[in-house]
Amino acid sequence: MSMDEVAMVTDDEGRSWPVGQAQRAAFVLADDDRECLRAVARGIAARHADRPSGLHLDDDDLMVDCKLRMLREGPEALVRALTQFRYRSNPDGVLLLRNVPIDDVLPPTPEQGNYDGDWQRLEVATMTQLAVMNILGDVISYADEKAGRIIQDVAPVLGAEKRQENTGSCFLELHTEDGFHPQRPRFISLLALRPDHERVALTLASGIRRALAGLDGGTREVLTQPIYRIRLASSFVGDREDVYAGPVPVLSGSPSDPELCVDFHAMTTEDPEGRRALASLRRAMLTNLVGHVLEAGDLLIVDNDKAVHGRTGFAARHDGRDRWLRRSFAVPDLRRSTADRLPRSHVHRRIFKSRIDQSRADRRPAYSND
Ligand SMILES: [Fe+2]
Repeated sequence: MSMDEVAMVTDDEGRSWPVGQAQRAAFVLADDDRECLRAVARGIAARHADRPSGLHLDDDDLMVDCKLRMLREGPEALVRALTQFRYRSNPDGVLLLRNVPIDDVLPPTPEQGNYDGDWQRLEVATMTQLAVMNILGDVISYADEKAGRIIQDVAPVLGAEKRQENTGSCFLELHTEDGFHPQRPRFISLLALRPDHERVALTLASGIRRALAGLDGGTREVLTQPIYRIRLASSFVGDREDVYAGPVPVLSGSPSDPELCVDFHAMTTEDPEGRRALASLRRAMLTNLVGHVLEAGDLLIVDNDKAVHGRTGFAARHDGRDRWLRRSFAVPDLRRSTADRLPRSHVHRRIFKSRIDQSRADRRPAYSND
């Protein structure tokens, strides 16, 4: 699809919604800034070259180095834009960075949803993403999901097409990322290594600042009530268990500039008014969609307190060249989760224990599953 065409998204009720272009507000790195950032990433990678792959990227010293090098040597205009976004966000709640450096030669897109090769083969993409995230906040990951990898791969997995999670390729309903988690991310970054073959997978977002104007006072009031529960993602609990967090409100904080936590696929309430308010919010958010087909070198940052995100469907070929994004999370204050992490680790311990594990260990569950 051409960037100039107006895309339409059809929801599961058959209604179509126009999608604005996230790239209108994109921050496009100048070529010399891209090369500057590539040099920063390579410098960090060289100093940490002896780190093995996987969880061994989980270390405070690496994060300190990323932040320090970015501040001292990174492109000033980019650091400024990231810091302003961190302080102020924006009406759509997303910041699209373009012309971001990635590695010249890429491994095949991982078939099982996780890249298990040497991180050094992706050193530019890996360290660029960590450098960006360390300006936005404190990097965090979750032991329940993808084994706590600091940077996770988002790629279509054969047989998982219909899943409402990162391994799927059908329409992904608008949601707050990990809204059920006590330390949910403030910022999500998605760095594209490869787009989908047909360039039709629109990454979608919608900001509460725009949607709020479409909600009457009564609806806003209902959405501030703690009457909603969110089902934990299957990527956390597997397929066999329905586990809910909450009750929580959908809107919190400033009445005129609230924070948002919602999931239009996995959120429920027993309250009929609450259901009506949730449906009104969904319509208001679908009315204000922005979207972008992520190309190689695009890095989309979602403000997870101000925007929901989703994705339109696409067809995977499982040929090693499928869509491949790399994802990482940041929280505003890592210290809030000190009791739930090992010293110097950025991986939050598991919040979920299966019913089988619970009965064996006779422990109180982190969340009820009634
Ligand atoms: Fe998501």
